[in-house]
Amino acid sequence: APSGLAYRVADLALAEAGRHQIRLAEHEMPGLMALRREYAQVQPLAGARIAGSLHMTVQTAVLIETLVALGADVRWASCNIFSTQDEAAAAVVVGRPETGGTPDDPRGTPVFAWKGESLAEYWECTEAILAWPSASDGTGGPTLILDDGGDATMLVHSGVRYEAAGAVPSDPRPGEPGYSEEHLVVLDVLRRSLAADPQRWTRIASAIGGVSEETTTGVHRLYQLAAAKELLFPAINVNDSVTKSKFDNRYGIRHSLPDGLNRATDVLIGGKVAFVAGYGDVGKGAAESLRGQGARVVVAEVDPICALQAAMDGFQVVRLEDVVGEADFFITTTGNFDVIRVEHMAAMKDKAIVGNIGHFDNEIDMAGLAAVPGIVRTEIKPQVHEWTFPAGAPGGEGDDAERGERSIIVLSEGRLLNLGNATGHPSFVMSNSFANQVIAQIELHTSDAYENEVYRLPKILDEKVARLHLDALGVELTELTKEQADYIDVDVAGPYKPDHYRY
Ligand code: NAI
Repeated sequence: APSGLAYRVADLALAEAGRHQIRLAEHEMPGLMALRREYAQVQPLAGARIAGSLHMTVQTAVLIETLVALGADVRWASCNIFSTQDEAAAAVVVGRPETGGTPDDPRGTPVFAWKGESLAEYWECTEAILAWPSASDGTGGPTLILDDGGDATMLVHSGVRYEAAGAVPSDPRPGEPGYSEEHLVVLDVLRRSLAADPQRWTRIASAIGGVSEETTTGVHRLYQLAAAKELLFPAINVNDSVTKSKFDNRYGIRHSLPDGLNRATDVLIGGKVAFVAGYGDVGKGAAESLRGQGARVVVAEVDPICALQAAMDGFQVVRLEDVVGEADFFITTTGNFDVIRVEHMAAMKDKAIVGNIGHFDNEIDMAGLAAVPGIVRTEIKPQVHEWTFPAGAPGGEGDDAERGERSIIVLSEGRLLNLGNATGHPSFVMSNSFANQVIAQIELHTSDAYENEVYRLPKILDEKVARLHLDALGVELTELTKEQADYIDVDVAGPYKPDHYRY
């Protein structure tokens, strides 16, 4: 880069297109824009070095520029190989108009992300956001992580663990616990790092004052680390702010799931049978949107409470095995692994559409699919693949019924299809999620009160995030009288619910 700004994006010439989209997104993100106004003078993130690992979309660009507007120094990577919007990445690197940056002289924020990274490139980018050559404290790392799914946090923790052990373990073999193509890539990154500098991650971790985590799957990883007493810094669980998971995971998916299906396939949803695995927040939004399109939706659950909710909402609750030959769409939303396996895919109808919106790509057994003898993979377009089972491949009625040639369509190679095939959730809902992120980053940067545990933001701040989004929707809130507030034992200004309330 002529300016010396290090970055890796697809094409800086896309910056102008990205800037137009960011400008329109700002209009739809009142929470983030209100935080910019509230904190413009105070600069609460001055001195913070924030390493962000979160889908590099237009909405994330508005988040990044909010963190910068509040004083932070930021480096960014995507948390998925397919989720980057290249024009947004370019615009962030070139910089806001007032910086005077151009594609030949970028003056914005370093981004390391493009749509269609390889796994090796993905982990190079994750490593790059954690490398801070200019760090004034000499640690070479960030002071905060903003994570989605926990990959950046995991890399630091694994690095520290292996440095303490003095070695990176040898690669697991196929079939052994922990084996995956991606895990081998991570081990390779850490092996090279350890050889070059045996204290690098320990030094980096020492400067990290905390992480704020965006999603259910990443939060799950953090609670596991905390339970094992291995968490190296405080963590704020942003996902379980009510204004995050009850909005982004649900209403965001209600918008972006059909968007992904339509852009990928343009197959009519109405009248078809759609199978949804999981009826948590994401599953509820998925099922509702598919029903809204006129599909007959069936749901699978393991949790009796969520299964009962699905039934009360009017969805038939089924086992995958019992509907596998009938459904036209299969969507996984569980955050679990091996939910759709090869025996299921072999038994599906010809041209059934299979996609995942849970965080990781192991909900659908893609490795198993690729290993089916004689199977052929045809790229219809990027992130849309037809997998053709040869005539005679078993599957369907009876365990080994022989069938003719047939195929299924798999979206985004089993990765989050709403971000791989479309552009993720729309701005307004992400303004809620990201307002929580900004508040969490300010908390971690400015307070010493946090131990190495997992925290949620106080309810009064959750309510504040919601409040910031009411005007834009013309919501007129009713105010409690003092007497009414006393009667239900709350403050007139909130919080209005006890912590155990579930919404
Ligand atoms: P959740 O915990 O509310 O829901 C998951 C549900 O799946 C639970 O009710 C659980 O009982 C059920 N489940 C687990 N194993 C199952 C199985 N084998 N078969 C059927 N059901 C099963 O979690 P949430 O918030 O709905 O998130 C789900 C996943 O989606 C996570 O990986 C999360 O990180 C991700 N996510 C993705 C987003 C996107 O934009 N694509 C947005 C938000 C979250």
